[in-house]
Amino acid sequence: KMKIGILSAGGDCPGINATIRGIGKTAIVEYGMEVLGIANGFAGLLEKDVIPLNEQLLSGILTLGGTILGTSRMKPFKHQEGDMVSDKPQLIMQNYKELGLDALVCIGGNGTQETASLLSKEGLNIIGIPKTIDNDVWGTDVTFGFDTALHIATEAIDRLHTTANSHKRVMVIEVMGHHAGWIALYSGIAGGGDVILIPEIEYDMDVVANCLLERYRKKKPYSIVVVAEGIKTGKKKKNAGAYIAKKIRKMTGLETRETVLGYIQRGGSPTPADRILATRYGAYAARMISEGDFGKMVGIRGNEIVSVPLEEVGGRLRLVNPDNGLVDKARHMGVCFGEK
Ligand code: F6P
Repeated sequence: KMKIGILSAGGDCPGINATIRGIGKTAIVEYGMEVLGIANGFAGLLEKDVIPLNEQLLSGILTLGGTILGTSRMKPFKHQEGDMVSDKPQLIMQNYKELGLDALVCIGGNGTQETASLLSKEGLNIIGIPKTIDNDVWGTDVTFGFDTALHIATEAIDRLHTTANSHKRVMVIEVMGHHAGWIALYSGIAGGGDVILIPEIEYDMDVVANCLLERYRKKKPYSIVVVAEGIKTGKKKKNAGAYIAKKIRKMTGLETRETVLGYIQRGGSPTPADRILATRYGAYAARMISEGDFGKMVGIRGNEIVSVPLEEVGGRLRLVNPDNGLVDKARHMGVCFGEK
């Protein structure tokens, strides 16, 4: 009987439980495997903190946000502050063997896929599953968690429109996305944002201020500015939303307020699209294990589930390509990206 381990690492996102269920149920029911849940990402592997998963435990979690296994940002190949164990990769290899694992599924974002790739190089049987609200994992068109975050951010922007209109204000909303502007771009377009600032497009504050003043001149009573948290904010790293709002206030004299959406984007139940994607990823991962097809990350291209060598993925980011057509269409709708 094959024994597999599942862990979730890095920031959580909606859909992790759906994918744990997808892997677990397929592994148990279809392939008669034994499934171990590993607590708190790679930290649980160091401590052998595991729980056997059965059909009962995997029932009723499809719609649940977060991760029943817990997660952590512990990276075994990186020396981190307060480290007690000197050779974490070695200990992970040892515990993998002692737990009797035949394969390990690592659900996570870029950092996790990087670790997964390194563990695979060390000889462990690894499958990666990409998850993050940021949608910035290379090798897949989309990660689960993104659609849910997009819905939440779009709803927030919708709500800002009415209050912005009543008060004739500029409303700045900061959404997540440290490296990539996917959430800002998509929610900005879906929510009818007037200015969208993303890390991939260099902005000029004079251009942004002019866009807003121009709207004012055209008798448009209010404006919505959608900002990704990862945009440049001068020499020091500052909170992007507050930084942009302050600049707008100063440069235009327009009444401006800011909202930081924060962790609301990562919490709660996944959308139907994320539930389906997560389930498909999970079931596919279980099948790959049954076929001994290791060292790969599951992904989606078009509507087809595929797998990509972990070595290729590493921790590579998938950023917004400003020439992808969507940015241009948004420009035609009058969206300002702040370019010179
Ligand atoms: O998961 C990605 C992400 O949501 C980023 O957009 C965000 O900046 C980061 O996680 C913050 O996560 P944490 O505070 O959990 O480290």
